[in-house]
Formats: sequence, C-alpha cells, structure tokens
Amino acid sequence: MKKERVMASVRGMGSICIVILYLWTIFLAIAARVVPVPSILPNYERPVSSIFDTSKYGILQLNNGLARTPQMGWNSWNFFACNINETVIKETADALISTGLADLGYVYVNIDDCWSAITRNSKGQLVPDPKAFPSGIKALADYVHGKGLKLGIYSDAGIFTCEVRPGSLYHENDDAMLFASWGVDYLKYDNCFNLGIKPEERYPPMRDALNATGHSVFYSICEWGVDDPALWAGKVGNSWRTTDDINDAWASMTTIADLNDKWAAYAGPGGWNDPDMLEVGNGGMTYQEYRSHFSIWALMKAPLLIGCDVRNMTAETLEIISNKEVIAVNQDLLGVQGRKVYVAGTDDCLQVWAGPLSGHRLVVACWNRCSKAATITAGWDALGLESCTRVSIRDLWKHKDVAGDVVASFSARVDAHDCEMYIFTPQTLFRYDI
Ligand SMILES: *[C@@H]1O[C@H](CO)[C@@H](O)[C@H](O)[C@H]1NC(C)=O
Ligand SMILES: *[C@@H]1O[C@H](CO)[C@@H](O)[C@H](O)[C@H]1NC(C)=O
Ligand SMILES: *[C@@H]1O[C@H](CO)[C@@H](O)[C@H](O)[C@H]1NC(C)=O
Repeated sequence: MKKERVMASVRGMGSICIVILYLWTIFLAIAARVVPVPSILPNYERPVSSIFDTSKYGILQLNNGLARTPQMGWNSWNFFACNINETVIKETADALISTGLADLGYVYVNIDDCWSAITRNSKGQLVPDPKAFPSGIKALADYVHGKGLKLGIYSDAGIFTCEVRPGSLYHENDDAMLFASWGVDYLKYDNCFNLGIKPEERYPPMRDALNATGHSVFYSICEWGVDDPALWAGKVGNSWRTTDDINDAWASMTTIADLNDKWAAYAGPGGWNDPDMLEVGNGGMTYQEYRSHFSIWALMKAPLLIGCDVRNMTAETLEIISNKEVIAVNQDLLGVQGRKVYVAGTDDCLQVWAGPLSGHRLVVACWNRCSKAATITAGWDALGLESCTRVSIRDLWKHKDVAGDVVASFSARVDAHDCEMYIFTPQTLFRYDI
C-alpha cells in the first residue's frame, strides 16, 4: 500500500573428475547426515549446493498448514487501487478461470484496501462499503469458492488502513472472527497508522486471533521490510514483505529484487520473503522487462500475485504469467529461494541468479540489466558445481532442451533488460564416465 501518502514511513579430465565427483558424493552423503533433516518433511530433499546458505532455512515455523509453496493468485491494488467493487472481483474470478490461470495455480482472489466502509458499525464490527460491496463479503466468498478459488481480504495493523478505513489494531479477535465467519482464506495485513509500535508487537496478535478462529487463513504480513521481518516473521506469518511498495517501473522492480535477495536464507516452506506483487501487464515496463520481473520473482520463491486487469490482458502478458515451466520453479517443493550468484560488467549489470531445485537440479537465470544486448556466462564455480560436471540444460522461455552435455560454463546472448532462464540437470558420474 502507498504508505508515502499517509506516513513517514569437462570433458578431458576423465579420471581426475571421477575422483573429485566420488569425493563430492561422499561429502554430500556426510553433509546430509550432519544437517538435521526436519522430521516434519521426511520425504523432502535437503538443498545440496554448497554455495547456497540455507542455515536459516525456516520450515513450517508458523505451522498453520499453508504456504508450503509461495502463494499464487491476484490482488486488486496494483491496477485498480481504490476503484474496486464486487463486480470487478467477480469478473476477475471468472477471468482467472476462463484464461486458464486458475488451473496453473493462481487461486487466491485478494481484495486490497478500500473494501470497507469508513466507520465500524454500532457493534464495533467492520462493514463492507455498501456502494461497492452491496452484497457483502460472505456472498463474494461464496461466489469465489463456487469457482474453486479462494478469497483474500485486507486490513491493517494500525488504527486505520492506508486509505483511512478502520484498522484492526486492538480489534484483532473481533475482526479475525468476522473474516472467518465470511469464509475468508487470506489476510494481507498492512502497516499504516501504527502508532509507532514495533511490528514485532503488532503482528503476532492477529496471528493468534486468526488461529483461534479454527479457520485456515493465509497470513500475509506487510510491514514493508521496516524491521527486517525475515529475522522474526517466520513464526508469525506465511509471508512477509521485505521492501517498500513496488511500482510499475524497471528501477523499482530491480531495486526491490536486490533488497529481497538479502534475505534469501530465511525463506522456506511455510514462510516466504515477499518482494511485493507483480506488475506484469500494467504497461510501465517492456515485454523483456516484464519477463525479467516474472523470472526473478519465480526464482526468488516470491508470491506470484498478478497485479493487472486479468479481464483484459494482452497475449504477451498472458504468455508471461502462464509460463508453466517458470511457475514450476516457483512452486518447486524444495522451497529454497534462489539468489544472485555472479555479477560482471558496468555497475554489475550482467547477472547470474540461481538456486537449487528438487531432483538435484538448479534454476539458472542470466539477467541482462545493461542497456545493450550482451553475452552472460554462468561458470560452474558460481553455481557450486565441479567444473567437470556434465549438465543438460533446458530453456524455460523457449521451452526447449538447448544442450545435453555442457561442462565448466554456459553462455547465453541476452537482450537488454531481458532474462533467460534455464534448468540445469547435472548428469550422474555413472551415466557418462563408467
Ligand atoms: C466497478 O469497478 C470497475 C473498475 O473500477 C468500474 O469500471 C465499474 O464501473 C464499477 N462498477 C460499479 C457498478 O460501480
Ligand atoms: C493453530 O496453531 C497450531 C499450533 O501451531 C496449529 O497446529 C494449528 O493448525 C493452527 N490452526 C489454524 C486454524 O491455523
Ligand atoms: C483493455 O486494455 C487496453 C490496453 O491494453 C486499454 O486500452 C483498454 O481500454 C482496456 N479495455 C477495458 C475495457 O478496460
């Protein structure tokens, strides 16, 4: 939300490689025994790439059964801001179905600020704005549920929301009960008008209030990264914003990606870093820039919350947000946030981002943040691979296997502000060398 408005706020090295790989395998086996495997996820693989620090990898800390993978859906704010009503929300739900986006996992239909009337009723309850939501939120939840989707709502850990509707601070139990009675599945909880009280004190009461309802509600913490929530929010919410609001511009998107990267080690199943919602399709960036935005958000295990008008998308927008292979990276069950692993060029504008995936695979993105097309090289050392490891590579935007047996490094020609994204599958020693 717009807090600025309201507050200051190898081939050829055969035998040597065999020995190295053999030792590496032993090392991994030992490492796997030393790293305590959380009993709660007995069948999950632990991350294997040594370069990725997962020492803070939080698993299911909140333990409310949700967010095993990052949330996917839509939110009204980025496109509609306050101009919302029940018709738009219903038509959006319809569009998520008719476009096939719901089948790809975009199931949360999240109403942001401005759904509520200016004041509480005589019983002290929140009331839906009678003009915009005359049928009420329960009816809307029923409609959305009837389509197999989930409904999200918005409130604020302060005395008002950012658009000056009643906030939930000191009303946590009543408001949580009301949301649960409507069948709401998701709460985005904002940070405006917070009386200067620390977020660590204001966000847990709503966690407890939601839990006490007995109804599963995804708890999305939005304190704008003010108090480094990655350090404490894993036990409080299912996701936590790590930055200020995104806007529909290349500078904002790239800045936010870098800020969110810092907290990679703290994300994991049950609790995700949230670099804010998608701007893809809103018109302020080029096709290449939106493709970068979507690729990096997927790789960072960010929530994939569409922020455009899904009732009226261009073919290019739909192509980007419905890329199944990129979505599969985001929803990979290993749940380790990928990160920036290598930079080169002027102002570090040639970048390699990567992260481990299940099945001992890696996702690798070559992101050209320079103003001209360039070749970006991902060296195996930056990816935590032995240089002799043979890797097969699939291009997630071309939907093609591009190489079957690459060693030491891989180079890609990338257009200005574009991002190429790959899955690297290291080959086993035995298949090739014995
Ligand atoms: C509902 O909101 C949409 C989007 O802002 C607007 O185009 C439409 O006119 C509104 N409908 C009503 C009945 O207010
Ligand atoms: C409430 O919290 C407990 C303890 O973490 C958890 O087991 C339970 O599933 C939670 N219930 C809901 C409805 O979130
Ligand atoms: C659909 O989007 C285009 C821009 O992509 C815009 O010009 C047009 O007004 C929109 N139509 C509606 C009905 O919102």
